Amino acid sequence: MCGIAGYVGKKQAAAILIDSLKRLEYRGYDSAGIAIAGDNGKITRKRCKGKISNLEKLIRGKNLKGTTAVGHTRWATHGCPSDENAHPHADCSGRTVIVHNGIIENHASLRSALSAAGHKFNSETDTEVIAHLLEDVLKSEKDFLKAVTSAASKLEGSYALGIINSDNPGELIAVRKDSPLVIGLSADGNFIASDVPAVLPYTKEVIYLEDGQSARIKKDSVEVFDSSLKKIKKKISKITWDPVTAEKQGYRHFMLKEIHEQQRAVQETLLGRINRGDSSVSFEDFNLTAKDFKKYKKIFMTACGTAYHACLVGKFLLEDGLKIPCEVDIASEFRYRNPPIDDTTLVITVSQSGETADTLAAMREAASKGAYTLTICNVLGSTMTREADGVIYTHAGPEIGVASTKAFTCQLAALYLLTVYFGRLRGSMPVKQAREMTEGLLKLPLKIKKFLDEQEQATEKISHNYFKKNDFLYIGRHVNYPLALEGALKLKETSYIHAEGYPSGEMKHGPIALVDEEMPIVAIVNKSFVYEKMLSNIQEIKARGGKIIAIATEGDTETAKIADDVIYIPEVPEILSPILTSIPVQLLAYYISLLRGCDIDQPRNLAKSVTVE
Ligand code: AGP
Repeated sequence: MCGIAGYVGKKQAAAILIDSLKRLEYRGYDSAGIAIAGDNGKITRKRCKGKISNLEKLIRGKNLKGTTAVGHTRWATHGCPSDENAHPHADCSGRTVIVHNGIIENHASLRSALSAAGHKFNSETDTEVIAHLLEDVLKSEKDFLKAVTSAASKLEGSYALGIINSDNPGELIAVRKDSPLVIGLSADGNFIASDVPAVLPYTKEVIYLEDGQSARIKKDSVEVFDSSLKKIKKKISKITWDPVTAEKQGYRHFMLKEIHEQQRAVQETLLGRINRGDSSVSFEDFNLTAKDFKKYKKIFMTACGTAYHACLVGKFLLEDGLKIPCEVDIASEFRYRNPPIDDTTLVITVSQSGETADTLAAMREAASKGAYTLTICNVLGSTMTREADGVIYTHAGPEIGVASTKAFTCQLAALYLLTVYFGRLRGSMPVKQAREMTEGLLKLPLKIKKFLDEQEQATEKISHNYFKKNDFLYIGRHVNYPLALEGALKLKETSYIHAEGYPSGEMKHGPIALVDEEMPIVAIVNKSFVYEKMLSNIQEIKARGGKIIAIATEGDTETAKIADDVIYIPEVPEILSPILTSIPVQLLAYYISLLRGCDIDQPRNLAKSVTVE
């Protein structure tokens, strides 16, 4: 999964490209490169292993001139991170240069055919195959755009491509299939990018290219074509995010900024969707009639990582609210287990990026079997949102930190809203229950703020006692069991400490053998109908010398008598507690990782959106 960028305009392209690539670094950062076409059409490529700052050093003082350029920041999928494997890639002549995000699944067969035809390859990447394929096509097809789309038709897999060619100065061709690509429009020139933050400092007007579409981009024109090369008119979307929003706003890391944004993000996800008069819920992009909804006998939810944990909470909510079975699957498993799906099945996918390959494939599998597909997603115009039958947007704003935080709490907020929406549709949720949930939801943003104001320092202080540990266990029950999984994932992916989440009741079936004073146990012990059970669990652990970090409800004095450390959350109805218990586990992971000197926003081996299988 990578970030691509491109520019054709009136200004010198080098600095613009470097700036754009820096805003895409969260998408991949093991190598980077740019290619610039000078006025004489000659293309100069500069590439290197490592972060974009290495590329910046490489081109400093080189006086790279040109107003047409493409650039790339890489997350390796084929070929290790190296200068040679860094994009952009070129054909034998160096006259066609390309950047690519995605995976070409038939690259091996194409490479052997092209090599047999005399092409010389300089990298191990799948991408370079496209450059040589295009070199052959351009020998007979002189129209640059037609040549690109003809070459692309031979590709299997996923791609967002930006291509420049010496014989077509001032032109950039873009084409996409299964990988995101936006076109930015401005008076000083036009842009392509894998994601909006890359173009935000230059324009708020973007076009989302769809699968099978291509574009010819010049400094003063953008033409978009459908898969049959018919010119089409595309909607211009206005981005409300300003460049600063997508930056860190003074926080040390995007992750901390985004943890603090949760009050606003949850607020905005709820905004305009609750009618307090009758405690009903409505969505701007999704509506099913009661008659439509009646036909669905089964709900599947599927996602990856943190979004999967949101689905696990959603299961509790939907089964309780709708009284129909709701199954939750990890997307990479769902798509291969041939689940029983037909037109009486409703399949909900949850995804921050809307581009996660496994979740997208699971959604397509469900659609192919006749299911109604609904996606809960944070990125306007992402592939999942364009392919699903229904969309519920989380309004978390750009989530740049690789570790998902505000997107998660917004996914939960959307799932609570959906529970009320469906519960009322189905007539299975009494108005009283709907009112309790909606009124409780509306109080949550202030409770988030209260927690952060009052408990962030305590959480940071607690992290000092445990940041050197090598193993953690997280335990929770019922609707907070998924939060034990989520807390463990947050710690794993940001601090590289081994951590496991477990249903608390399972301790006696094995994990209690692990208990010693070297393995801290984070226990979610908030006031709930399983509170007493959780107290017994942490007593058992203490009796065996374990160290307990408890997340408890403010005013709870019992837990403090047993636990070594306590983080208090404000009083909240148990069913709504996951949105609040999320924040201490996020903060604990953040501060432990900070003390361990980890690369918190860009953890090793990870990328923000995994658009490869
Ligand atoms: C979460 O902190 C991780 N970065 C990762 O598990 C993520 O949740 C997963 O890759 C799913 O991404 P998505 O929500 O964009 O589909």
